[in-house]
Amino acid sequence: MIHITRRERFCAAHMLRNENWDDQKNLEVFGKCSNPNWHGHNFELFVTVKGEVNPLTGFVINLKELSRLIEKKVIQKLDHKNINLDVDFMAGKMASTEVLAIAIWKQLEAGIQEMGGILHCVKLQETENNFVEYYG
Ligand code: NI
Repeated sequence: MIHITRRERFCAAHMLRNENWDDQKNLEVFGKCSNPNWHGHNFELFVTVKGEVNPLTGFVINLKELSRLIEKKVIQKLDHKNINLDVDFMAGKMASTEVLAIAIWKQLEAGIQEMGGILHCVKLQETENNFVEYYG
């Protein structure tokens, strides 16, 4: 079993807010990310696939095909978009890095399986200092 990772990048806006709380409580819990006038992040997404090496190709998965899948299912929907308002697979969800990583996993899992790989990890980096990893 070997692991291979593809990195992709996107820029997106969001806001973290619980509408049942007032501005003060939202600021306490979510900090700057509660700003009601939105803000953006330059996200880095690392998609790790595991599997056995195919003796015909030397590959676990064709990275060009993996990149195309991520582009279609994730990047086109998120890049230069508002995560709270524009992204179909995030409708009605909190636009946190954790929730987004889980949603990205669901967007990719079946397609990667069809390509003969097993999705191992979705790592989503929101800032230099903050990232999450989801293993399903
Ligand atoms: Ni933020």
